[in-house]
Amino acid sequence: MTRLLSVAAVLSLALRASAGADSYQVNAICTCDQLMRWYDWNNGIWGSSWWESAMMMSALADLSATDSSYNGTYFNVYANTFTNAPKTQGHTNFLNNFYDDEGWWGIAWLNIYDLTQNPNYLNMAKTIFNDMHGGWTTPCGGGIYWEKGQPYIASIANELYIQLAAGLANRVPSQKSTYLGYATAGWDWFFSIDVVNADNFIVDGVDGNTCKSTGSTYTYNQGVILGAAAELYEATGNGTYLDLASKIADAVTTKGSQFLNPNGILMDGCDKTASCSGNGEEFKGPFVRNLRKLYRWVVSPTWRDFLETNAQSIWNNALNDTNSQCFVGDYWAGPYKTADAISNGIALDALNAALYATS
Ligand SMILES: *[C@@H]1O[C@H](CO)[C@@H](O)[C@H](O)[C@H]1NC(C)=O
Ligand SMILES: *[C@@H]1O[C@H](CO)[C@@H](O)[C@H](O)[C@H]1NC(C)=O
Ligand SMILES: *[C@@H]1O[C@H](CO)[C@@H](O)[C@H](O)[C@H]1NC(C)=O
Repeated sequence: MTRLLSVAAVLSLALRASAGADSYQVNAICTCDQLMRWYDWNNGIWGSSWWESAMMMSALADLSATDSSYNGTYFNVYANTFTNAPKTQGHTNFLNNFYDDEGWWGIAWLNIYDLTQNPNYLNMAKTIFNDMHGGWTTPCGGGIYWEKGQPYIASIANELYIQLAAGLANRVPSQKSTYLGYATAGWDWFFSIDVVNADNFIVDGVDGNTCKSTGSTYTYNQGVILGAAAELYEATGNGTYLDLASKIADAVTTKGSQFLNPNGILMDGCDKTASCSGNGEEFKGPFVRNLRKLYRWVVSPTWRDFLETNAQSIWNNALNDTNSQCFVGDYWAGPYKTADAISNGIALDALNAALYATS
């Protein structure tokens, strides 16, 4: 796909709400430009958002991967974050006490490695995975905890563990069988415990003392497993992974699902609570970002419609484009809610996914 529009055409198109890949591309670029205005070059992250910044890095890489004229655009951002973020935030190698935070960064470096082919990023992903693997296994027959030393087993940390292990299997041929072994063991364990509820949604986690599943359902838990399945399928050719992931993706995207409003707009976290931290604000991003990864292997018209409907609603209902700068709020159904880096970041995920599915 080419990007032949002049700056003036880009600006005028950005204000238009016509459907289709061209407008998703223009809208994604405008959303990303605003996201970059909030990037802190000194600290290498956005504001004080740590794990969310990993996701914004993935969103930048996804835009470049979909729009080849953007390949190269953010290479200096990746390099800056790689060096400055751990240093300024007091972490070594993107490691901290939360296995899910580590996993988000591991996946981000894989995405950025795919784009840049810079081995430093792949090595960082390996270093992060090694630390996560050090947490295997819990007294519940497998898995890793959420926070090191605390007995809660969060689904999200385990989904990221599987995705990262399978992602490394696909990118490190000399150790493919080792990483694949970790990924399949992670997957088989995850689906052997009772984390999928009767509606085909993954619940938040497992109580590390009783080994019983517990907690509510969030969109990000329905998302990362889709990316994990896509990597496992790529590594094995085994369609079982795609089938199981498709059930979960269908459960979220089918009309009447608890995550959709009557018009098919994805809702979670901030949409459902009066006040909401960066955590809830972020949830929808990983769902659409990983649906894009599954769509590579399963070309579902239902998901494409869902992605287009959401990308369009974001533009019609969640945007403040004063001065042709795209501020995108977190309520994709509207009304506009004051935007910040996280809300622009997840909107970029949605636009990237719609662009990918329609290109
Ligand atoms: C992006 O650029 C890098 C470095 O020049 C190159 O290795 C890679 O293949 C390019 N990726 C895409 C998707 O064009
Ligand atoms: C495919 O993966 C599933 C889930 O891990 C496993 O049960 C099944 O045995 C695998 N099939 C093959 C042919 O390896
Ligand atoms: C839209 O953005 C402009 C510029 O940042 C701001 O002045 C205005 O108050 C915003 N509008 C709403 C409805 O928040």
